[in-house]
Amino acid sequence: MRSLLLLSLLLLLAAAYLGGGSTRGPRAAWTQGPEGSPASPLESSAQFWVRLSPEVVAVPPGDSVWLNCSSSCPLPEGSGLITRLRQGKTLGGPGWMAYQLLDVRAWSSDVRCFITCDGETRWAKARVTAYKRPKSVILEPPVLVGSKYMLRCHVTHVFPVGFLVVMLRQGGRVIYFESLERFTGLDLANVTLTYELRPGIRHLWQPITCHARLNLSGLVVRSSSAPITLTALAWNTKSKALSLASIAALLGIVLIVGATYLHKYLAMRAQM
Ligand SMILES: *[C@@H]1O[C@H](CO)[C@@H](O)[C@H](O)[C@H]1NC(C)=O
Ligand SMILES: *[C@@H]1O[C@H](CO)[C@@H](O)[C@H](O)[C@H]1NC(C)=O
Ligand SMILES: *[C@@H]1O[C@H](CO)[C@@H](O)[C@H](O)[C@H]1NC(C)=O
Repeated sequence: MRSLLLLSLLLLLAAAYLGGGSTRGPRAAWTQGPEGSPASPLESSAQFWVRLSPEVVAVPPGDSVWLNCSSSCPLPEGSGLITRLRQGKTLGGPGWMAYQLLDVRAWSSDVRCFITCDGETRWAKARVTAYKRPKSVILEPPVLVGSKYMLRCHVTHVFPVGFLVVMLRQGGRVIYFESLERFTGLDLANVTLTYELRPGIRHLWQPITCHARLNLSGLVVRSSSAPITLTALAWNTKSKALSLASIAALLGIVLIVGATYLHKYLAMRAQM
């Protein structure tokens, strides 16, 4: 891969959802307490852990999922699960309880479980999200800048971005890919991949496609763009070179968080 890899990163996080995220905390009473640690650490001999697994899981909208709340407590006095999601079956064994959550459609739901042991209650939490397949994957016609082609691929309305891989392929070859796992936002997003290709002879004939892949636990969702070829391009246009001055500042992955759209989506879900 001799082409320039693009490292700069622009992340426009919409802070708006922080104010209005109605689905973020399950119930007011639980969201106020400190998380992951008991309110007042007792000097109890019963030190025990509680775990809710998987900690992060994404499912197709409408599916159900099992969460397992386990602990090291030898004799639990109580246990339970707190969530806004609809609960289904429950299974239990020594040291664990498994809960089925039905018809997951909420964008992102916090789930907590607790175990009481020797008078002390401890909590663990997990997050269940419903994914959104990209609305579109569009590879723009490439623009020639100097001796390189500027390729831009737009992936719109996708969630969760942290599970997304965007890839450029030519023929059977992957010419660039980028995983967005560092983006942990809870918003629907538009992602733009910008890539500079230094063309060799073979590049001119083979079609290029852009692929978006959501790799969720046990489920891979793929979408791809229509192919484009580089041959159709004229060799130099001043106006194109000029318009690229602004693009040059945005090399790499650009993530635009769809806050407006998200709010509508949340409002819709809240009514269900
Ligand atoms: C839940 O987790 C416990 C401890 O990791 C394990 O032994 C048990 O088999 C799990 N139950 C289910 C239904 O997955
Ligand atoms: C999806 O992710 C898993 C674990 O991170 C990995 O083992 C698997 O190869 C990935 N699948 C694809 C198609 O990327
Ligand atoms: C995301 O892209 C779509 C389609 O191009 C557009 O309609 C929408 O406004 C974009 N959203 C944001 C937040 O930029």
